[in-house]
Amino acid sequence: MSYFQTAAKKLGKFGSRQDTNIIAIETSCDETACAVIRNGREVLSNVISSQVEIHKKYGGVVPEIASRKHIELIDYVVDEAVSKAGVSLENIDAVAVTNGPGLVGALLVGVSHAKAMAFALEVPLVGVHHIEGHICANYVQYKEMRPPFVCLVASGGHSHLVYVKDYGRYQILGRTRDDAAGEAFDKVARALGLGYPGGPLLEKEAQKGNPNAVDFPRTYLEAGSLDFSFSGLKTAVLNHLNVCRQKGQPVNSADIAASFQNAVVQVLVDKTLMAVRKCKADIVALAGGVASNDVLRRELDSRCAGQGIEVRYPSKLLCTDNAAMIGTAGYYRLCRGISSPMTLNAVASMEIDSY
Ligand code: KG4
Ligand code: ZN
Repeated sequence: MSYFQTAAKKLGKFGSRQDTNIIAIETSCDETACAVIRNGREVLSNVISSQVEIHKKYGGVVPEIASRKHIELIDYVVDEAVSKAGVSLENIDAVAVTNGPGLVGALLVGVSHAKAMAFALEVPLVGVHHIEGHICANYVQYKEMRPPFVCLVASGGHSHLVYVKDYGRYQILGRTRDDAAGEAFDKVARALGLGYPGGPLLEKEAQKGNPNAVDFPRTYLEAGSLDFSFSGLKTAVLNHLNVCRQKGQPVNSADIAASFQNAVVQVLVDKTLMAVRKCKADIVALAGGVASNDVLRRELDSRCAGQGIEVRYPSKLLCTDNAAMIGTAGYYRLCRGISSPMTLNAVASMEIDSY
């Protein structure tokens, strides 16, 4: 009996037809998202409703507002994803949902909705780790891509270097000890008065600046360490701004943005390549919101060119939060016969687990 047939048998309705359609829900932060994924990698629909405009005026995500907006939007987003997919509900084989890490109130909206759908449709429910979802966005982008590979996951809440040994087999090689890369982008953008969300606005500002104008510190930690630390860099930028303001010197925000971005990208790429060498990997992937940064993509491309290392990164839409990546991650769990009980809970902070 094949892997897939065993899973199908264990999970009842999952995979009972030739094609497997998974409906996936993502509400871990400020995007209400739903997607329908066929056979793990084909995106039938991928609907994302962003709350950016609402949180913008507060300079960041307000958790309570995010939860309330998810409640208002979830029905519409799910309906739109189902209708765009052109699949009737009786042809849905499973429901995947992000159950952590993230804002607990926001996660609960998606988890409750997913439970109700799985119960009503009598199909398996599967909880997905948000970071695992980001990694799996690469499978959505590259239909032929298979593990093993090294993946740098850089988002607003996480900076992880992960060795993906196989589907669902993860070895964490390094992680941030303080701020995540995206968090540093957001905080520096705020200090420069660029607004929210900081990453893309800072990248745009940096295009007008000189990346070597200010020599900001690069933190590598102990020799050989694959952990990250960005709080020192963030503080250095804030100090630089304070000194300029105290001395009445003009602040060249484009130069500061470009120099900051240059420092972050250099450390991210250096450590990612250390991880690639350590694992003797020949594929390296990017994932998470910061992976949509063009300077990071170009730097990794150019450092890997001619080295026999293939570079992968999802489209920008698949780098930031979306539900297609959750559907794909859920599919591989279900293929191993793993589903979640109806007692599945939302968890604010959780480790990525291998299965
Ligand atoms: O993965 P994501 O959408 O949400 C989380 O799981 O956190 O990542 C959002 C983060 C934010 O910190 C945002 O500023 C950052 O990704 N980001 C970027 C860019 N686009 C988004 N950072 C740098 N350059 C970008 N172009
Ligand atoms: Zn994310």
